[in-house]
Amino acid sequence: MTAIGELPERAMRSAILSLSRQPRVGRLATRLSLTRSMVQRFVAGETLVEALDALDRLRAAGRRTTVDVLGESVQSEAAATAAADRYLELLDALAGRGLDGNVSLKLSQMGLDLSPELCRANVARVFEAAAATGAFVRIDMEDHARTDSTLAIWRELRAINPASGVVIQAALRRSADDITALIAERAPVRLCKGAYREPAAVAFPTKPEVDESYLTLLGRLLREGASPALATHDPRMIRAATDLVEREGLGRDRFEFQMLYGIRRDLQQQLVGAGYRVRIYVPYGREWYPYFMRRLAERPANVMFLLRSVVHEERRRPS
Ligand code: FDA
Repeated sequence: MTAIGELPERAMRSAILSLSRQPRVGRLATRLSLTRSMVQRFVAGETLVEALDALDRLRAAGRRTTVDVLGESVQSEAAATAAADRYLELLDALAGRGLDGNVSLKLSQMGLDLSPELCRANVARVFEAAAATGAFVRIDMEDHARTDSTLAIWRELRAINPASGVVIQAALRRSADDITALIAERAPVRLCKGAYREPAAVAFPTKPEVDESYLTLLGRLLREGASPALATHDPRMIRAATDLVEREGLGRDRFEFQMLYGIRRDLQQQLVGAGYRVRIYVPYGREWYPYFMRRLAERPANVMFLLRSVVHEERRRPS
């Protein structure tokens, strides 16, 4: 059943996610200085140098990190190859600076929509470079149309770098079956709720259903999974995990929590203080538009905050 009050919120979320797929709006947004301060909350900078500084700060605060070079749905072979090159540069910099060797990438950024072979070759280059420096590579999960190919490409390339893993979205109806298969394969899984607009045929349409699915999958991963990562800022999910771990004496080093850069820093700190492993997903780069829009969609209050700062800036402008 749909809760009253959930409908306008779902409509707003759906509208924002639809805008996130409009490259023309994206080009306009990236030119506007108005959105910059809000973007800075979620993105560690536009350059590698800025990202490295953010990583130093997070390390000093006891956080682990995984770095994402922003970019997705590339339109040309050259852009896909350049994206893989940027990951090689990043891995080199992480190793050179003695930082956490852990990166996250998207297959549509590596050319999946142009050609699976091109994508495979690009990801293989990143996996090889990561293996050479002992780094871990997580393949992010995009919308449901890419789930099968994402899992297939990871399964194929896992031999190149066993220190690699995938992401499962609790929102998808298929995820319980995927988790069963991945647990049997001893696959490192990151569990998230799912950030994409999906049809009800493949995904649970309401938040209570997604949360229920997350709780079920979380329990299975904690008990049977290989180094699971629980990616959520939801205190209810986090409490369920810590309660289970304490109740069943599972060991805090068997899993980690993961959160996004700039979100619920209080909770990050609390968990680190309580002795849990916490890894922060740190995105950087110029192509922040779709990532930023997904963060807005997750919390309508972010849109109000953005609108207020736009009005504020407009008022301060000399007329
Ligand atoms: P929920 O949306 O219920 O939010 C719980 C609380 O968290 C909110 O009440 C608020 O306090 C805070 N919060 C959440 N989002 C916020 C925001 N944007 N701004 C401010 N506060 C916010 N998705 C995907 O489809 N594929 C992927 O590969 C990944 N990868 C990934 C990695 C990591 C490390 C994280 C943390 C998340 C992802 N996601 C993802 C995104 C994920 O699917 C989901 O959209 C967000 O994490 C929001 O869901 P929560 O679990 O936080 O719960």
